[in-house]
Amino acid sequence: MKIKKICCIGAGYVGGPTMAVIAKKCPEIQVTVVDLNKERIAAWNDTDVNNIPVYEPGLGDIVAEARGRNLFFSTQVDEAIQEADMVFISVNTPTKTYGEGKGQAADLKWIELCARQIARVSTTDKIIVEKSTLPVRTASTLKDILSHTGNNINFQILSNPEFLAEGTAVEDLLSPDRVLIGGDPSPKGQAAVEALVEIYSTWVPTERILTTNLWSSELSKLTANAFLAQRVSSINAISEICEVTEADVNEVSRAIGSDSRVGPKFLKASVGFGGSCFQKDILNLVYIARTYGLNEVANYWEQVIIMNDHQKRRFAKKVISSLYNTVSGKKIAFLGWAFKKDTNDTRESAAIYVADHLLNENAELSVFDPKVTAQQVYTDLDYLGTRESTKNASLVTVTKDPYETCKGSHAVAVLTEWDEFNSYDWQKIYDNMLKPAYVFDGRDILETEKLKAIGFRVYTIGKTQTQ
Ligand code: UDX
Ligand code: ADP
Repeated sequence: MKIKKICCIGAGYVGGPTMAVIAKKCPEIQVTVVDLNKERIAAWNDTDVNNIPVYEPGLGDIVAEARGRNLFFSTQVDEAIQEADMVFISVNTPTKTYGEGKGQAADLKWIELCARQIARVSTTDKIIVEKSTLPVRTASTLKDILSHTGNNINFQILSNPEFLAEGTAVEDLLSPDRVLIGGDPSPKGQAAVEALVEIYSTWVPTERILTTNLWSSELSKLTANAFLAQRVSSINAISEICEVTEADVNEVSRAIGSDSRVGPKFLKASVGFGGSCFQKDILNLVYIARTYGLNEVANYWEQVIIMNDHQKRRFAKKVISSLYNTVSGKKIAFLGWAFKKDTNDTRESAAIYVADHLLNENAELSVFDPKVTAQQVYTDLDYLGTRESTKNASLVTVTKDPYETCKGSHAVAVLTEWDEFNSYDWQKIYDNMLKPAYVFDGRDILETEKLKAIGFRVYTIGKTQTQ
């Protein structure tokens, strides 16, 4: 089965970059990315690729190359589904905020809506590909909805989880460690798997394309994220021990990471992991385990989240205790708001929770992030519902200039590891701050000795404070 037309429902952080790369590598396939959000589609179609809604290094060039040739962004969802041989579902699956499973289970409302829409408008056979991260056995829900259309259309469902990390999405898509495709063992299911393998094998070596059954593929995605998040929580737990024992968490990471069984990646202590996947996927895993009565398994994975929440809280508490146990009315400068560098995504960013904690203590925050808009910062804080949005607006300012952000502050807190923070004129920052001037480096990216020589009091995550 040769795929000629692809439709991707959802033009977000996953759908946009993934489809752009497929379009680049397979110019003979027409790829249409659709979304209900008109502004988002308009931004993807902006003549200046610097304005596309997802910031990823290298993505603008790929969009510029393929857009209008075989890559299209549109709000005509029905038409694009109808024409396609293969439909990727790449819509949001946030944690439920209501009802059964609230705070843990994935909200599959949007997935179900997609399935119903596909069922309603399809007139030809299609391969449906789950791209969004989903709980195990979601494919059976999709199958159930799609097999009750009564119009004899054959739908094959595949699971093809995305492993790209934000900030390196293009690189990850162009040379992935592996591509995972799960499908039904029936001959039709295997033909669908082959059709997707053929697309990826245009640029991915075939030995890196793994095929499994649907359920293994769905579970592997949750497991991969749970393992990665667990590593971060594990090293963060050790960072707290380092701070009281004069061990240095970077040295510990290097020492354990040189054991080839452990490996060096994902051992960087931080103010806490964020992003749209880690917490959501672990909560999902916990919910599934509880649903099957596997309480020990659920408790085990839940601990990864508990540790992460603790890390964010203890960073905020460190700021408060250092500033003589009160931050009320004190200006604290935040460098970074994104959940990691090289992205404008702020979902579940540690910065949001640290800010919330400090705002509860009546601190005044000033925020600078190279890629995050002021509107996003306020939206993130308002979303928590901790206080009135007018209060957030009065306590938080967002500037476009890091020096302005730091001016007149008692402390600077680094929440995201943007490279540029290290190249700032820290003497100038120091000169314009209240004294004693504090730096709280939640990412361990600054040159501590240099800052100390200027006169800063420096706290770095995972290091014992000596001053
Ligand atoms: C993650 C997975 O890596 C990716 O495979 C999956 O498809 C989606 O979820 P992403 O959320 O984009 O990707 O970012 P990732 O690089 O994994 O970082 C997640 C969070 O962990 C960030 O907040 C990051 O700062 C933090 N982190 C990561 C650490 O604190 N220390 C580390 O050593 C690594
Ligand atoms: P991700 O990080 O998984 O890509 P995003 O939230 O960035 O998630 O993107 C998901 C996109 O899916 C959003 O832009 C949203 O508007 C879109 N979407 C959700 N449901 C539908 C639907 N039924 N039809 C079209 N687009 C949808």
